[in-house]
Amino acid sequence: MNKHAAIPLLTPLLPDQQALAPYLAQLDHNRHYSNFGPLNNALESRIADIFAEHGAYPLHVTTTSSATLGLELVLSSLDLPPGTKVIVPALTFVASLTAIIRAGYTPVIADIDPDSWLLTPEIATEAAVQTGARAVLAVAAFGQPQDTKRWSHFQQQSGIRVLIDAAGAFGSQWVEAPDIPVVYSMHATKSLAAGEGGLVVSGDNVVNANVRQLSNFGINLDSNAGFPVGHLSFVGSNAKLSEYHAAVAHASLDQWDTQAQLRQKIYRDYRQALEAACGEQLQWQAGSTLAAPTIFCLRMTADARDRLEAICKQRHIATRRWYQPLLHQHAAKVAPIIKQPTPVAEAVASGLIGLPFSPFLSREDITRVVEATCLATANLTLAHQPQ
Ligand SMILES: Cc1ncc(COP(=O)(O)O)c(C=O)c1O
Repeated sequence: MNKHAAIPLLTPLLPDQQALAPYLAQLDHNRHYSNFGPLNNALESRIADIFAEHGAYPLHVTTTSSATLGLELVLSSLDLPPGTKVIVPALTFVASLTAIIRAGYTPVIADIDPDSWLLTPEIATEAAVQTGARAVLAVAAFGQPQDTKRWSHFQQQSGIRVLIDAAGAFGSQWVEAPDIPVVYSMHATKSLAAGEGGLVVSGDNVVNANVRQLSNFGINLDSNAGFPVGHLSFVGSNAKLSEYHAAVAHASLDQWDTQAQLRQKIYRDYRQALEAACGEQLQWQAGSTLAAPTIFCLRMTADARDRLEAICKQRHIATRRWYQPLLHQHAAKVAPIIKQPTPVAEAVASGLIGLPFSPFLSREDITRVVEATCLATANLTLAHQPQ
C-alpha cells in the first residue's frame, strides 16, 4: 500500500467513449443539438418509465440544464407573490437557497431532525406558524429520501406548497404523491451523471409544462394555449438540456444498475470497517439504505472531527465539511432571510465530516481512512501518532 498517495474526496464515473458512441452517432444522424431534441425526449420517456415502476401515478419528466435551474423554475412556476416566504433547511447545499432567492422569494431557514438530518413536516409546520411561510423546499440531504406522501398530506392540510430538492438522491427518492414535484441533479458527481443536467419529476403536468416553457426563455410553444406560438408568455431562462448532455445521460442510465450495486457495496464495506474499528464514536444519518450513494458523511464530536481533518491532511486524504457553513451563514452576505432557531443543525454540523467516496475507492484506501479515523477518535494528537 502506498501510504502517501492522495485519496481524493470524489472521483466522478461517467460513461467512456465506447459507451457514448451509439448516442453520439444518433446525434450525427439527427443534426439536432438542443431545443428538446430526440435524445432529450427519449431520455424523459426512459426516466418516466423508471418512475412508473415505483409509483401508482403517471409522472411527467422534464429535463433542465441543472438541478439548480430545475428548482428555480419549479419555484417560479408556482407563481407565488414576490417575497413569499419559503422554508428551507439550514443543512443543505447553497443551490437550495439561491434557487429561492432567484425565484424572487424570501428564504426562511429552519432546523432539521436530529436523526434523519432532514427538514420534516413537523419542523416546517412550526416554522410556518412562526413566519407565515407559504412554500417549503424540503431537501433529500446527502441523498436520504424525503417521504413524499407525508409532504403531500402536509400540503393538503396547510395549503403550503411543497417541492423537494433530491439533487443527490436519484434511485433512492421516489415520487409517491402526484402533487409533490421532485428535482434531481445529473451533475458529474451524481450517480446518474450527464456532466451537468437536472430532472423535474411530478404528477402535475401543469408544473412540468411550465418548467419546460420557462426553460425555453418563457416562449409559448403550445398551439392550444390561446396565446400565439413563439410569443413570450413568462420571464424564463435558457435552462434546456443539450443533446450532448442527453447522450451522456442515456449512456449513464445504461450503466446505472451496475454502478449503483458497486457504490452500495463499497459504502457497506467502508461503513462496516469504520464501525468495527471505532463505531461507538461515530453517528450516521438515520434512514433507508441508499440505492447509489455518492458521498460518505458521518458525525463525530467536534474535537474528533478537528483531529481527523488534521490527520487526513497530513496523510493526503481529502475531507469536506459538507453543506457548511450552514445556509444562514452563507445567506448573511447575499440576501435578506428569515432565520428560525437551528440548534439541531448547528449541533450536527459541528461534528459532520465527509470522507473520500467513489466507485474507485480501494480496500487500501478504506484501510487508510479507517486508521486515520481510529487515531482521531482515540484522541491522539498529531505529535503522538504512530507512523
Ligand atoms: C442539495 C443539493 N441541491 C442542489 C444541488 C445542485 O445541483 P446541480 O449541480 O445539478 O445544479 C446540489 C448539488 O450537489 C445539492 O447537493
